[in-house]
Amino acid sequence: MNQQNTPAHVAIIMDGNGRWAQKRGMPRIMGHREGVRAVRDIVRAAPGAGAGVLTLYAFSTENWKRPVLEVQALMALLKTYLQSELAELAANGVSLRWLGERGKLPADVQKLLENAMAATAANSRLVLNLALNYGGRNEIVRAARELARRAKAGEIDPAAISEEIFGSCLDTAGLPDPDLVIRTGGESRLSNFLLWQASYAELYVTDTLWPDFTRDDLLAAIRYFQSRQRRFGETGEQVGR
Ligand code: FPP
Repeated sequence: MNQQNTPAHVAIIMDGNGRWAQKRGMPRIMGHREGVRAVRDIVRAAPGAGAGVLTLYAFSTENWKRPVLEVQALMALLKTYLQSELAELAANGVSLRWLGERGKLPADVQKLLENAMAATAANSRLVLNLALNYGGRNEIVRAARELARRAKAGEIDPAAISEEIFGSCLDTAGLPDPDLVIRTGGESRLSNFLLWQASYAELYVTDTLWPDFTRDDLLAAIRYFQSRQRRFGETGEQVGR
């Protein structure tokens, strides 16, 4: 792979776990279990592929509507992942961050997340954002609330609120916007993922189901990204000059 012009921030909508399991006559949760294996592989592969930030959409604000047993199984998988992977994440220079609203996840999962974030905060080889109880609209509303609070307290002049200040109130504060959003499982939609941050991301949709997604698939997505001309509102002639 060409190591030039690699996306600094890759964000992934990990879709297709249920279909992966159903195709094999297994319960959906087996697809999520295999999905964790894919998570492990992609976290290991991301730094070598040039990405310094990897964001994984693991549980949305809408996923609470799923059958209670599936939600419980997903929370159990998260817990096991955080317990079993922390040492490797720390040893590999990964800094873990949590995108999403606090409070609704089971207390033990939240505690594990807080501990893992504290234990890896000084690492800088890869920032791994886990989007959990995350929704783009929810994140934007929380940022608006925070800015309204500051304005009411006289800490900020509403006229001074800029895109930069707004961005600093989002869960991704201080991180670059995603350059590449990958969605597995074939559906072409954002599903409330990084609505603010993905404004100029390149979108890559693959029919590959998440449990089958490998390092080679990640590299294929990055090669696609490298073939794109990013214009950010300018004309092709302007950016080609
Ligand atoms: C979407 O597939 C996937 C999810 C809602 C959960 C993703 C979770 C994991 C990959 C495992 C836990 C993650 C970590 C970080 C340890 P789907 O079930 O909607 O698939 P379908 O469209 O085929 O039904």
